[in-house]
Amino acid sequence: MSEIIHEMITEKQITERILQIASQINKDYKGKEVHLICILKGSVFFCCELAKRLEVPVTIDFMAVSSYGNSTESSGRLSVTKDLNEPIDGCHCIIIEDIIDTGSTLSLTKKMLFARGPASLKICALLDKPDRRKTEIEAEYTGFIVPDKFVVGYGLDYAQKYRNLPYIGELEFVDE
Ligand code: IMP
Ligand code: MG
Repeated sequence: MSEIIHEMITEKQITERILQIASQINKDYKGKEVHLICILKGSVFFCCELAKRLEVPVTIDFMAVSSYGNSTESSGRLSVTKDLNEPIDGCHCIIIEDIIDTGSTLSLTKKMLFARGPASLKICALLDKPDRRKTEIEAEYTGFIVPDKFVVGYGLDYAQKYRNLPYIGELEFVDE
């Protein structure tokens, strides 16, 4: 089996959309400081590009999580493999995620972070795959809605590969 990648969202489209999201966040958080919570590893590229375009004061922290257990239930278990370095109580936080798929990971992450007492907590996702949703969760800021296909690039991986692609592509497996 070999892998072929079909370009789905160009680098130019991503850059333009990030600019639009940034200007919305600049409006929404005017007069406030915003604390970005970047979910490793997939969100790193998106988080950096977005952060560069924010004009409100910005701080950034990183967290790595994964969910396991029965994914058909909304109450799966969350494993935090790298926690935040700083407390978030009283902060206006935005969770930066690469893609919302079933929604399990993000909903558990949001619940856990909410318990730490942030002043506010929103979600900003580069991609949303609503067809696969199992847990009711919605991002306040979304880059693109994508169909139920496996996508890579701009931070998203397949077996840790392709994160560095500057565009988003659909991954296809073909017999050699
Ligand atoms: P879920 O929303 O809990 O199902 O999990 C979302 C996570 O699964 C994302 O943060 C990604 O790491 C990964 N994921 C889901 N769909 C894709 C995809 O199409 N390509 C790459 N990673 C994906
Ligand atoms: Mg992820």
